[in-house]
Amino acid sequence: MKLNNKKKSILKGKDIISFGQLDTKALSMIFKTANKMKKTFTNKQTRELLKDKIVTLLFFEPSSRTFSSFAAAAKRLGAQTIEYQNPMQTSSAVKGETLEDTIKVFSVYSDLIIMRHPEIGAAEKAANATETPIINAGDGSSEHPTQALLDLYTMLNKFDRLSHLKGVIAGDLLYGRTVHSLLKGLSLYPGNTIYLLSPQRLQLPRELFNLISKKINLIEISNENQIPENCNFWYWTRVQKERFSNLKEYEKIKHSFVINPELLKKKGGKQTIIMHPLPRVGEIHAAIDSDPRAVYLTEQIRNGLYVRMALLNLILR
Ligand code: NCD
Repeated sequence: MKLNNKKKSILKGKDIISFGQLDTKALSMIFKTANKMKKTFTNKQTRELLKDKIVTLLFFEPSSRTFSSFAAAAKRLGAQTIEYQNPMQTSSAVKGETLEDTIKVFSVYSDLIIMRHPEIGAAEKAANATETPIINAGDGSSEHPTQALLDLYTMLNKFDRLSHLKGVIAGDLLYGRTVHSLLKGLSLYPGNTIYLLSPQRLQLPRELFNLISKKINLIEISNENQIPENCNFWYWTRVQKERFSNLKEYEKIKHSFVINPELLKKKGGKQTIIMHPLPRVGEIHAAIDSDPRAVYLTEQIRNGLYVRMALLNLILR
């Protein structure tokens, strides 16, 4: 399998800030490269693709999966990493250093910066401060494009297409950044119909609803009985506690919609895959984990690694 072909990647040197900047051509390139990564995962050649590179992980917000899968992806390709979790406690940020200064410094040390930050727009701010490529690993409640990449890649592997899919996206559609990026991704392919299930208070932001519904069919529903039969996927999310100023309000709505065996039996199709970006905090019963349709602890996790390896390789080589 040839990974070091001479054709220049359209993503070379690029920032990945919002899913809105990707088109279907870029996506198919990422997914093809992810397929290659999957097949050549343990090859010596793959392990040396980025052996002369240094990647910084700068995570101002908690993370386990995204942080570790990016770190693993970089290391699997032979890159070295500078890993900074909680810089608000351990770095100069605590002394009041601006984000721009922090980014400028790390861009001298490394070839690419992967950043998570609680502020909407922080990734763009970082990208404007440096020529070094920035990957947005989540900026506040705005976007999380690489999670959407692995979500779409998981769907593509299951259905062999990303168009004409019927799915439910449930939970916190207001603050859930993975949902925002995923909907932008699904809107690039024709014929998709997405049912949006959330408490009224956590509906998709109107601006995003209007943007996406120009391209695909979005249907807002307010209870589980309205879930249509034979969906291709259910994509559940947690209510984003950290975005609430009033915790009582969070407690009241955190478990508005839960996947339990009864709901799955009643509304799930034989081929309906069950997805979640994780962490889950009670929205999916543990009894569902062993169901062959559940992919949140299996395929989604593995695909996250392949897609992130693909992305790092396409940006850095
Ligand atoms: C998500 C996030 O950080 O936005 N987690 C992840 O990266 N997979 C989802 C969440 O925190 O609910």
